[in-house]
Amino acid sequence: MSVGVWWASLRDARAAAPLTALLDPVERARHEAIARADDRGRFLLGCALSRIALGELLGVSPAEVPLRRVCPRCGGPHGKPRLAAPHGSPFADVDFSVTHSGDVVGVAVARGANVGLDVEETGSGAALDVDTVAPVALTDAELAALNAHPPAERASAFLRVWTRKEAVLKALGVGLTVPLRRLEVSAPPLPPKVLSWPDQRTAPQAMAMADVDVVTGSRRLPATATAAATGATALRLHHHDGTAAVTAYATSPPPP
Ligand SMILES: CC(C)(COP(=O)(O)OP(=O)(O)OC[C@H]1O[C@@H](n2cnc3c(N)ncnc32)[C@H](O)[C@@H]1OP(=O)(O)O)[C@@H](O)C(=O)NCCC(=O)NCCS
Repeated sequence: MSVGVWWASLRDARAAAPLTALLDPVERARHEAIARADDRGRFLLGCALSRIALGELLGVSPAEVPLRRVCPRCGGPHGKPRLAAPHGSPFADVDFSVTHSGDVVGVAVARGANVGLDVEETGSGAALDVDTVAPVALTDAELAALNAHPPAERASAFLRVWTRKEAVLKALGVGLTVPLRRLEVSAPPLPPKVLSWPDQRTAPQAMAMADVDVVTGSRRLPATATAAATGATALRLHHHDGTAAVTAYATSPPPP
């Protein structure tokens, strides 16, 4: 299964005006309602990068990429965004996933599979209260493996397992509505893999996973990330320079 991964940095949202022009009315309302500038920038960049990545795949301008943001639980303008491909479109099998953490914004795109991407900045790991979060998020076996690490390494070890779990939940589109302590994944240095599903009856037939390098241009960002895709046994990752793509779009957007 081929998965395109695009990374950008929050600072790429500085050229806000051309990127804001890309937003549809639903996105614009959400963007305007976000109070904190950094959160606004991350949301804007996630929308822009999704549209740029999908526009390249569809062969259309990013502004013409039709997206749908409707929560299946409450009908609100959030949840996993989807490509609103018309019925019978050859692109009906396209799926994508957005993630942000601190300075990093990423998008994964795939065809013929549901994809999930999750990133966590590792620089912020020091501020993470692992002793509080881990018992809520990890299974007993995951917790035992985490506690085998020296205390100074536990925050980064936790984040590596956490991104693996979240990537799976985002590929399934269920997010954190699933009981986290009943989904078990492998921990590095083992390759990423689901070891046990919360409900075997609703488990997908296959879920391929890969840890992902977080690189924009020649810059490796201090972050850990995982991609997951349903119905596949292995992932082939194709890295794209999201910073270059966003900068190119912001400096010369196509004429209206
Ligand atoms: C989204 C979620 C899976 C991960 O959050 P996170 O690690 O803090 O944030 P990330 O930056 O990695 O991911 C956020 C992005 O995931 C996407 N997303 C949101 N819900 C999603 C879901 N159920 N499945 C997959 N992706 C989802 C969105 O693109 C979102 O970014 P955007 O809103 O700016 O477009 C988690 O916060 C969650 O489950 N939230 C929803 C909880 C819920 O269902 N509430 C009920 C609402 S009625």
